[in-house]
Amino acid sequence: MNEDIYGIKKWGDDILDVLENGNIGLKNPFFPQNPPVDLIKIIKSLNERGINCPVLLRVTDYLAFRINQINKSFSNAIKEIGYKGDYRGVFPVKVNQQAQVIDRIVEYGKEFDFGLEVGSKPELLIALAHDLSSKSTIICNGIKDREFINLALLSQKIGFKTILVLESPRELDLIIEISRELGILPLLGIRIKLTNKVSGNWSQSSGDRSAFGLSVEQVMNVIKKLKANDYLDCLILQHSHLGSQIPDIIEIRRATQEACRFFAEITRQGAPLKFLDLGGGLGVDYTGEQKSAINSINYSLDEYCINIVETVKYELDQSSLKHPTIITESGRACIASSSMLIFNILETTNFDGQKTEPVSNKDHPLLKNMMQIPEYLNLERVQECLNDLNYYRDEIRTLFRSGQIDLPNMAKTEETYLYVINKIKKVLSSSTEITDELQVSIDNMADIYHGNFSLFQSLPDVWAIDQLHPIAPIQRLNEYPDRRAVLNDITCDSDGMINKFVLKDGISNTLPLHNIEENEDYFLGVFYIGAYQETLGDLHNLFGDTNVVTIKLKDDGGYQLLHEQEGDTISEVLSYVEYEPKDIINRFKRIVEDAVRSRDLSLSERKELTLSFKESISGYTYFEK
Ligand SMILES: Cc1ncc(COP(=O)(O)O)c(C=O)c1O
Repeated sequence: MNEDIYGIKKWGDDILDVLENGNIGLKNPFFPQNPPVDLIKIIKSLNERGINCPVLLRVTDYLAFRINQINKSFSNAIKEIGYKGDYRGVFPVKVNQQAQVIDRIVEYGKEFDFGLEVGSKPELLIALAHDLSSKSTIICNGIKDREFINLALLSQKIGFKTILVLESPRELDLIIEISRELGILPLLGIRIKLTNKVSGNWSQSSGDRSAFGLSVEQVMNVIKKLKANDYLDCLILQHSHLGSQIPDIIEIRRATQEACRFFAEITRQGAPLKFLDLGGGLGVDYTGEQKSAINSINYSLDEYCINIVETVKYELDQSSLKHPTIITESGRACIASSSMLIFNILETTNFDGQKTEPVSNKDHPLLKNMMQIPEYLNLERVQECLNDLNYYRDEIRTLFRSGQIDLPNMAKTEETYLYVINKIKKVLSSSTEITDELQVSIDNMADIYHGNFSLFQSLPDVWAIDQLHPIAPIQRLNEYPDRRAVLNDITCDSDGMINKFVLKDGISNTLPLHNIEENEDYFLGVFYIGAYQETLGDLHNLFGDTNVVTIKLKDDGGYQLLHEQEGDTISEVLSYVEYEPKDIINRFKRIVEDAVRSRDLSLSERKELTLSFKESISGYTYFEK
């Protein structure tokens, strides 16, 4: 490509490349010298197999690579700093619970004794159904009932290192009671509430008002109770979690320091703590800006690891304590890059206003004034022109509402508006300094590209918390994209719109895209969506799960399809909202049969209608060609 408009080099350098044919290529991060795999070829060959867009593509190499990177980076930091303890990562199941994902995390993580973190009974069941290495841990966070505790304790009998992290003082009574009933001593952790508050979208997970963890006073009470019941020896882990996607490395250092102070003090109280679990927080640089901002981070993975290991060593050396095993629960950083959503554009709406009719005697005087604006339009008077344009249109709209202007005049007004605003846009294209007001007016004229996806199903964080995921066309990157657009999804909801984009030069309200030829398949990719998006998504307008394909990159520029999961059918989504598919078919048949009697519907029409209904019910919920 002439220029990296989308900033792919900034946010996707180790996984994506732009090929000579203008398509995005998937790089193999383990073997950067291998030819990148053409993403368009992948999508086309999936289409040939009958797997259509929207499709969620999981690239296993990216997951394996991140697990490797995190473990190797910690092990390098440990060597470099002379730390005497180990590192042991765990993957928080909540970040992506899909069976294909967890299976692979367990497989790729085995050589590093990578474990799992669970926050509920279903997640515990998932963890216990995996063949984890004998040294890895299952960290149980979240509120636990009798069943949860029972199972966690019993799982020790079959070799799992299942650690129950106390989230509240109340939990301890129940754990002691069940442990005595079963005659199994628990492996216990204690979740502390750090006072250091962090920035970012998840700041409420930290600080005094955080809903999670024990206050200092509660920590003391728990220790007293453990001592009184002879259970203090079971307390082997200290846990803290500041929130996800921490943008600033200083915040991570400070939290680590505070966690170490607690660790030293709890150890001084006699607890044999062996594990220092610092939770999640390792962020992903979604924008590639490398700065402390909500969708970016101001540190590298190596820096993160070195900062943590160095701080723990320094703080615990101060207290002459043995170096514990450091645990982190990095989910987002592990998994985000391995999934991407690919969808096709269905149609476009533009606001070009290429021409306008000449002035006529029938035109309203305000419209005539409006039509004269281009005569005095230049860079110096551009704001004035915009003010006039908006004023005249508003006035004419008011007159239309009160019946003083007819439809042809109103239509000509709107046409003239588009014509003039596009002239203004052209004049402004030669300027590097555009005021916010002018920019908003220009952005309001951007095209709308309608995409075959549901924001609510596939990108819920974009809707809920303005999360930015890099988005780019996956073809024609060797051609200048001369349109500017916002994206609209397929749901009938004005919220299903994306109007913030990551570009090389920063965040933009519009995305540069190509003019799409008739019948052209034009695909966009949304990248870094592996974390949280898959299960947070909902069924708005009853768009269900998309097709999911897991691939592995091959050395020769090809790929191997490892797994295919068909997206939800209409019948499936109907059953999620309490419709029994068979029943709904029968209901429809009854309506059609009535029509045979009362509306002269022919028997062959009846057959055709019923067949069409039945075919639809077993089809994909998204737009199909
Ligand atoms: C206890 C706990 N550990 C780990 C994580 C995952 O953190 P991250 O998104 O930074 O990977 C979370 C999520 O917020 C969490 O609540």
